[in-house]
Amino acid sequence: METTTKPIALGTILLLLLLSFSHLSKADVIFDPSDLLTINCGSSTNFSTPEGRNWIGDTNTKLLAVSRGSFLATALTKSIIQGPYDSARLSCSNFTYSIFNLTAGPKFLRLFFFSTSYYNNFHPSKAVFSVKAGPYTLLQRFNASLDADSGNDPARSNILFREYCINLQEGQNLNITFIPSSTGSYAFINGIEIVSMPSYLYYTDPNVDIDGKPKLVGGNTYPIENHLALETKYRLSLADRNIPEAEDTGMLRTWDVHNQVFFPF
Ligand SMILES: *[C@@H]1O[C@H](CO)[C@@H](O)[C@H](O)[C@H]1NC(C)=O
Ligand SMILES: *[C@@H]1O[C@H](CO)[C@@H](O)[C@H](O)[C@H]1NC(C)=O
Ligand SMILES: *[C@@H]1O[C@H](CO)[C@@H](O)[C@H](O)[C@H]1NC(C)=O
Ligand SMILES: *[C@@H]1O[C@H](CO)[C@@H](O)[C@H](O)[C@H]1NC(C)=O
Ligand SMILES: *[C@@H]1O[C@H](CO)[C@@H](O)[C@H](O)[C@H]1NC(C)=O
Repeated sequence: METTTKPIALGTILLLLLLSFSHLSKADVIFDPSDLLTINCGSSTNFSTPEGRNWIGDTNTKLLAVSRGSFLATALTKSIIQGPYDSARLSCSNFTYSIFNLTAGPKFLRLFFFSTSYYNNFHPSKAVFSVKAGPYTLLQRFNASLDADSGNDPARSNILFREYCINLQEGQNLNITFIPSSTGSYAFINGIEIVSMPSYLYYTDPNVDIDGKPKLVGGNTYPIENHLALETKYRLSLADRNIPEAEDTGMLRTWDVHNQVFFPF
């Protein structure tokens, strides 16, 4: 795999372009993540989806706590995709998920949103908010309906997915805070997933010399130190089909077919 990065305005967040030059095959070592937590937000319901996710309702688990001031909201339309989309946790004021007892090291942090109307009278165009995880701003004044409208994949209509890599220190709870952007706007979230990854899958191993380091666009070497957060932009399989979560090597990643994605570089 080759990893290419390009810094964006948010400073501490880099964009990741990931390429797999071959099929993932059964011969690839399956990674067994020390943390694997998939949260069905705004619900008490646990369920599984075919791609291999076990969703846990956020109201009946000791693995996390949610600060006061948010509430459970039902989606007024049904998503065409199976997932945590019947319910959301929603608020016009800040709310925080504190996730306990995670191990130290790099994690995928995945956010799942369904841009639709929520009971009672929460219109999608008023969902404008920022999301912070620990010291990182993952989304800034994110206008969910605007992103949903501009999405170019009709098969995933109004479902928005974001994936980040963050590194946790020993003994840290992970706080994920949702911050409505202005009076009259609200923040919501349908699903959150945290999955451990191997230490130096994307972050640079300090023990590897300069030639082993990932390359910045333009050809300069650029270590990805673990105080940085990363955002996935594309994860491309150079094989002739996409690779779904269930066929990944234990980390529930998806790989798109490269020729379906516009290449900005
Ligand atoms: C849902 O899963 C959580 C975490 O495994 C567990 O604590 C809880 O009892 C489960 N709830 C139900 C209704 O099975
Ligand atoms: C919500 O969070 C933001 C960013 O951390 C902060 O500036 C603001 O004061 C918070 N609002 C309230 C009411 O606590
Ligand atoms: C976190 O782990 C410690 C030690 O294993 C345990 O005592 C504590 O109850 C756990 N906390 C939660 C919220 O699960
Ligand atoms: C968010 O996007 C919607 C279009 O879907 C627009 O109507 C609304 O004004 C936008 N909100 C803000 C605060 O930009
Ligand atoms: C995490 O959030 C909880 C609840 O809002 C708060 O009490 C705690 O101080 C926060 N921890 C950090 C490190 O921000």
